[in-house]
Amino acid sequence: MDPAHALPAGPPFTIRARLLTTLASGGVRYEPDAGIEVDVAGRIAGVERWDGDSGPAATLDLRPWVLMPGLVDLHAHLPQLPNAGVGAGLDLLTWLERYIFPLERDFDVPTAELIAPAAFRAFARAGTTTVVAYGALWPESLDACFRAAEAHGIRAVIGKVMMDRLSYDTDRDPTEVLELSLRQSTELCATWNGRDDGRLMYAFTPRFAVSCSAAMLRASALAASEAGAYWQTHLSEDREEISEVKRLFPDAIDYTDVYDRAGGLTPRAILAHAIHLSDREVERLAESGAVVAHCPSSNLFLASGAMPLARYQAAGIRMGLGSDVAAGPDAPLFSVMRAGAYTQNALRAAGLSGAPPLSPADWLRLGTLGGAEALGLQDRIGSVEVGKEADLIVVDPSVTLPLEGVGAHDDGGPDEMLSRLIFRAHPSMVRGAWVRGRLLPA
Ligand code: GUN
Ligand code: ZN
Repeated sequence: MDPAHALPAGPPFTIRARLLTTLASGGVRYEPDAGIEVDVAGRIAGVERWDGDSGPAATLDLRPWVLMPGLVDLHAHLPQLPNAGVGAGLDLLTWLERYIFPLERDFDVPTAELIAPAAFRAFARAGTTTVVAYGALWPESLDACFRAAEAHGIRAVIGKVMMDRLSYDTDRDPTEVLELSLRQSTELCATWNGRDDGRLMYAFTPRFAVSCSAAMLRASALAASEAGAYWQTHLSEDREEISEVKRLFPDAIDYTDVYDRAGGLTPRAILAHAIHLSDREVERLAESGAVVAHCPSSNLFLASGAMPLARYQAAGIRMGLGSDVAAGPDAPLFSVMRAGAYTQNALRAAGLSGAPPLSPADWLRLGTLGGAEALGLQDRIGSVEVGKEADLIVVDPSVTLPLEGVGAHDDGGPDEMLSRLIFRAHPSMVRGAWVRGRLLPA
């Protein structure tokens, strides 16, 4: 960070900066010179065009940095971060066996106490202020993850992975796993869901249909709805996975129906990937209100496929973005937006989509307010608007310029700037991130 900019550690504060935000009413707001006031409770109390000398006295001038809403990552795996960037092009099930299950099997408390705080710092550095994450199977390691999130300050939805079929818990009799896993998950939910006025939340987390019996899926969905918690899993990511689900659930109409029969498809369900869906599945997902966490960088990394985003949007499926680290090689959602845009361009170039491209502002919306809406948190977060909690980031767009020491040839307007934040994302461009006005360690 530029040493000239000592960022406020906690509320109240007022920042003067450029402002770029999605708006609840639609569209974006750009102000080249704005004052953003955060009150003592960590809420946004004022967002105004800077008005001559009349701004509040104790103001930090961050211009030309840009204040934006914090990013919302709907899908990540905390234990997997050490293997990020390894295994590109492997099919999902091979990648899981080779690179992921061994890592999660070893995710004990000391490991979690090392990895989770580092992971949350990495998310904050990436501009992510809300993350929805999977842990591993072991409940004590989940307590360690929640403690780390509590101390760090990030907004987080976390869940213990549940598996009573394909699993790395090979020592235990599968018949006892369902009851045990349900009890452990319910206890974790009782301890952590809603902690710190809702900053920490719980998601019941049956891994995917290949790892779960119908009874496990049903019991976890029921427990989630009884607790008012989220329910997260993976859906229709990889062709071999889909074949395996067909074999395991011969009575189901399709993969989506496996979760539907379990009572999982509610507005509190977060389904990662959902790449290869029939028209029936698309319709059913839209009707159910379940959320798709779109993970385009992961979908390309594991050669899983190209999700037809425009088709899902036209159908009205609720959607946000997920990094899916470590199948996604990177935490920053700006890079995920780029992968998503390239995927849609490739679909168009191949004649597989006639939809117009999403604009940079559309991608920003998916990564901010779209994610907030997906979590039902749109009244609290997702945009820089009065009354919301101050989940903010500040970005230095100068590091995304093509040539050092040479200004941009365009007028440096918001569209060009946002385009570069996405297509020329730089690892150090996010200079600060706050949740409820508290600066996150990065
Ligand atoms: N499907 C089941 N488990 C996983 C996982 O850990 N990552 C991804 N990308 N897909 C999965
Ligand atoms: Zn995943």
